[in-house]
Amino acid sequence: MHRDTDRFFAKKARREPIVALTCYDAPTARLEDAAAIDIALVGDSVGTNLLGYASERDVTMEDMLHHTAAVARGRTSAFVLADMPYLSYDTPAHALENARRLLAAGADGVKLESGRAILPQVAALRAEGIAVCGHLGYTPQTKGPRPAVAGRTAPEARELIADAEALRGAGVFMLVLELVPEELARHIAGRLSCPVIGIGSGRGLDGEVQVVNDILGLTARTFRHAKAFADMHARAGAAIRAYADAVRGRAFPEERNATHLAPDVAAELGIATE
Ligand code: KIV
Repeated sequence: MHRDTDRFFAKKARREPIVALTCYDAPTARLEDAAAIDIALVGDSVGTNLLGYASERDVTMEDMLHHTAAVARGRTSAFVLADMPYLSYDTPAHALENARRLLAAGADGVKLESGRAILPQVAALRAEGIAVCGHLGYTPQTKGPRPAVAGRTAPEARELIADAEALRGAGVFMLVLELVPEELARHIAGRLSCPVIGIGSGRGLDGEVQVVNDILGLTARTFRHAKAFADMHARAGAAIRAYADAVRGRAFPEERNATHLAPDVAAELGIATE
């Protein structure tokens, strides 16, 4: 049921936006399911958003397996899409071995960065029936941790279009375009028969993917491509400060947070109950 990617093609046909959001843990997966998010993306952005790494390149297969399993335990209906981390798909055999591990951990499909350079890897996964999503534009694994718009010049744009078409030809069920000019992204979405979703790639695509920390306002940083729909950084900071103040002032824990020894047990042990 979860592995079915037809529903995304149906949404594209109906011009119904596909909603994808990164997800790194079980409680967030439950929240995303309750909001009927279509795709819970266990992105390698887990590294910079949750694990304290400087770059997506630091994320390991073990990290991805751990977080994919947590998300899979929390979701009931969202499609779990797991990023294949840096160097985990450098050869077709390696890609197949690691994709299988991610599927065994609970992923319904995998996402790989790059274009024509990884066609043999995509073909190897598709030959085994594995659902593969492409990722073009700004690709942190190959371009490093400094985001930059991709496809601004005509030669760059042509490369992107050729990569997108080659990936679709190899059988990807979806393509993520990150930091691509709106006109170019829309042009690619119009040419491809599979859904094309964007992040920082403007309006009018087949859907959107965002980083959950950004839409929750969990970090003090803001990005042009994102919007904080809540200020969780301020709210979480205030709650943690209030907790610390309450403990220091002995206002927490309270009587209602405690359990007590039965008087006869306390008496037998010689422990005062007051
Ligand atoms: O890892 C991630 O968060 C991603 C999105 C930016 C698409 O790949």
